Amino acid sequence: MTPPKPIPRPDRVSLWRYLRLFRQDILSAQPARLYRAWMAEFRTPFFRSYMCNDPALIDLVLKARPDDFPKSDRIREGLNPLLGNSVFVTNGEVWKRQRRIIDPAFEGGRLRESFPAMWDAALAATARLRTGEVEVEEEMSHAAADVIFRTLFSIPIEHQTAQAVFHEFRAYQRTQPILNLAAFLPLPRWFPRLHRRATLRSAEKIRALITQMTESRAAEIASGRAPDDLATKIMQTADPQTGQRFDTQEMVDQVAIFFLAGHETSASALAWALYLLATHPEAQARVAAEAATLPDHPDFAALSRLKFTRDVFRETLRLYPPVPMMVRENTWPETFRDRPITPGAQIVLSPWHLHRHERLWTNPDGFDPDRWTREDNKTSARDAYMPFSAGPRVCTGAGFAMVEGTLLLAHLIRTYQFTPVENAIPVPVAHLTVRAANGIRLRLTKRS
Ligand code: HEM
Repeated sequence: MTPPKPIPRPDRVSLWRYLRLFRQDILSAQPARLYRAWMAEFRTPFFRSYMCNDPALIDLVLKARPDDFPKSDRIREGLNPLLGNSVFVTNGEVWKRQRRIIDPAFEGGRLRESFPAMWDAALAATARLRTGEVEVEEEMSHAAADVIFRTLFSIPIEHQTAQAVFHEFRAYQRTQPILNLAAFLPLPRWFPRLHRRATLRSAEKIRALITQMTESRAAEIASGRAPDDLATKIMQTADPQTGQRFDTQEMVDQVAIFFLAGHETSASALAWALYLLATHPEAQARVAAEAATLPDHPDFAALSRLKFTRDVFRETLRLYPPVPMMVRENTWPETFRDRPITPGAQIVLSPWHLHRHERLWTNPDGFDPDRWTREDNKTSARDAYMPFSAGPRVCTGAGFAMVEGTLLLAHLIRTYQFTPVENAIPVPVAHLTVRAANGIRLRLTKRS
């Protein structure tokens, strides 16, 4: 069975129809030709944007000259109430300094130290699940948020503050989709901004809670009683160039993005992975067989037994990249594929289209985890796969997410068998991440 894909819009539609479709869902607002094109131009009275699927252009924007293609200020405006000056929205020297402080916490060695907390979150997730019909997106949000709390602040999701942050994030996201798209669409400055009152209130509450956690962690560090987790590591790291550490405000901005970027994305990928396995029972049986070899208390090395599970997670990130599109702005006159691009144009990079590009992948819409071990996949994997972006601005949590995804998937599948619910085929839509329009419902039975 071919995994669900949104129905693209007709090739030609009016600007207003396009904007309306765009507000509903970025994915179905695009025409089918983008799955074949190397580059596409969108002209509107307000802005020009160029979607680039040509690997050479993607390389130029993300890897060769990333400083010339910063994130647009409009993205910052849209997300400012929650994310302040977080590493996700800053540019230039500020961004470089933030990455120098954050990156060491996510290096390979630290991942190994985060492993026990991830494993505890996996155990807690399977203990929370019940047999019967389950909406797995919601469950996976819960599980991925738990991973973040345990690895960052050493508290489980049952902790009172963790619960409060998690619930406020949910409230924030329910008011969020339109705000997010408004930030994405470079509308003119006179256009009303959609910072709705409810969104602002949620953002304020989340920041107040995170500030509390950050301040009490600073006090624990000062008194030598702090647990050795990601928050402590980041707060103690000094920028090797300036010697500066994050102050409380800047740390709150970073914690906010770790929660947001770290749990929504992983949750989306895990939920789609479960759906793909439910609809591909042979692949599910192979994951179950691999997961059965895990010891009761696995350590980091046990991950090497989960090769197929990892490929399932990789393939899920190809078909349902949680971050479907990214936007940059060009600062100089450029020529892309013989077309002049004036400064200020929006450059859209779309993992969604790139990963299903008909000229770059064989069987682009099919679920085929074994492709990741085949020689002929190497070029596509190198040139046309970027669920975590690429270049210096690559996702800080990429390694973390691959360990988390593989581990949680293995433990979920070794505990439960997942089967599809009749007439409940999920339709992918782009909210903050790629989600199913009405959730993903699956039936769970306990494995013996
Ligand atoms: C499957 C899970 C994940 C996916 C698919 C994902 C994907 C991405 C992508 C595509 C970007 C680049 C966005 C852009 O340039 O506009 C990004 C950035 C980022 N991600 Fe992730 N992410 C995941 C998990 C995580 C986790 C677990 C964390 C942290 C704990 C994290 C933290 C960040 C941060 C801080 C950035 C901003 C980096 C920068 O701009 O320098 N992500 N992520």
